[in-house]
Amino acid sequence: MLERILPGASHLQNIHPLLVHFPIAFLYGAALLYFLASISASDGLKWAALWMLMLGALGAAAAVASGLYAAPGLMVSVSVRHELLRNHKHLMVAASAVTGVLTVWALATRPMPARGRYLFLAGLIAVMGLIAAGADIGGEMVYGYNAGGSACPQPIEFGK
Ligand code: HEM
Repeated sequence: MLERILPGASHLQNIHPLLVHFPIAFLYGAALLYFLASISASDGLKWAALWMLMLGALGAAAAVASGLYAAPGLMVSVSVRHELLRNHKHLMVAASAVTGVLTVWALATRPMPARGRYLFLAGLIAVMGLIAAGADIGGEMVYGYNAGGSACPQPIEFGK
């Protein structure tokens, strides 16, 4: 059935890759809109940014849950698991935890904190940095070591 509707997705070992781009897009979008809102003081932009942050937080929760579910059964070598998957997990859990704190803070002071605004914006920069580093490792696992794919033999040792 899935092969007919989404032939590409039927090659996946798990649904994590289908979910991960939502938090990446929404959280970068939230950061951009919050920065623009703080320069322009536009209320409309602040509310749009808050909605993006909430959607990003929901997406991050789904990505973390699907990633934790996928990890134990992932067909990769022990070295790739140790060198890449572990670091990917730590960076993404950290990014999601900071996102959670920022979302609760933004909701409590909606649409955006007035006191501590610079700390809030610094938190968004930290989230973007953690996600960029974690996604880079995720991509390396998938495209360098065929993690979650079925196109070439497994497992490939780290560095080969
Ligand atoms: C906000 C949270 C997360 C984001 C945004 C994220 C992002 C990514 C990205 C971009 C990839 C490469 C996918 C591709 O290029 O097709 C990836 C792969 C992967 N990630 Fe995550 N990740 C997150 C959390 C986690 C967590 C907590 C784990 C747990 C260990 C995890 C496990 C994996 C695994 C196993 C893969 C290999 C592909 C597959 O699942 O089949 N991820 N992730």
